[in-house]
Amino acid sequence: MRKPLIAANWKMFKTPAEATAFTNEFLPLVAAQTHAEIVLCPSPTSLPTVVAAVAGTGVSAGAQTMDYHDNGAYTGETSPVMLNALGVSHVIIGHSERRQYFNETDTTVNLKLKAALAHGLVPIVCVGEHREERESGKTNDVLKLQVSIALEGIDPAAAKPLVIAYEPVWAIGTGLTATPEMAADAHKFIRAEIAAALGAEIAASTRILYGGSVKPDNAAALCALEDIDGALVGGASLEPASFASIVLNSAV
Ligand code: 13P
Repeated sequence: MRKPLIAANWKMFKTPAEATAFTNEFLPLVAAQTHAEIVLCPSPTSLPTVVAAVAGTGVSAGAQTMDYHDNGAYTGETSPVMLNALGVSHVIIGHSERRQYFNETDTTVNLKLKAALAHGLVPIVCVGEHREERESGKTNDVLKLQVSIALEGIDPAAAKPLVIAYEPVWAIGTGLTATPEMAADAHKFIRAEIAAALGAEIAASTRILYGGSVKPDNAAALCALEDIDGALVGGASLEPASFASIVLNSAV
């Protein structure tokens, strides 16, 4: 009942020409598959190119971040209104790199989530613990805080589009992946926290993605787990064949 979502986070890679080269090669590779939704999240300068390339294909385009204001004197930022105008349907919120390098906090994540839902964007809210937090047994405390603050004041009736991505920070770009058992535990815990905040019905329909060194050879095992509803992929989403394999291997 939860359709898997496989999202590519290209981070600060690919010019518009490189994005076009990617979509030209990638889209035919996934044209026949229907089991998963696919979202490509390029940097802002490639968003118009990707939106145009995916039109009519069933693949969606997403932003990697946004501001929570509709407009204003916020130099360098992009608003949900602007994403709507471009035809962007998804937005990643609170990625650990945004938290680490750009001062994003659980409070700004909450404001951005509210703005995304108000503007009809599908929010992909990222949570996840650092290595020291896992090693000192604090993973669930961290997840509880991140999820509960992100969801504070969210109307369950408006929360249907919500997607959460569990990305253990120590697994991002490191080649280390959470074991299926670690991921299963974290996803189950996150779903219980969603239930506490928004009720059992929303918790049961919310997709929880796993992110952190997802590759073609581990996607199937991760996506087969009951509470894992797809993947948020960084490095391995930059090559069309590799990302297409992840999409195809995620069919369970
Ligand atoms: P990697 O797949 O490169 O580990 O990145 C994960 C990530 O941060 C996706 O948002």
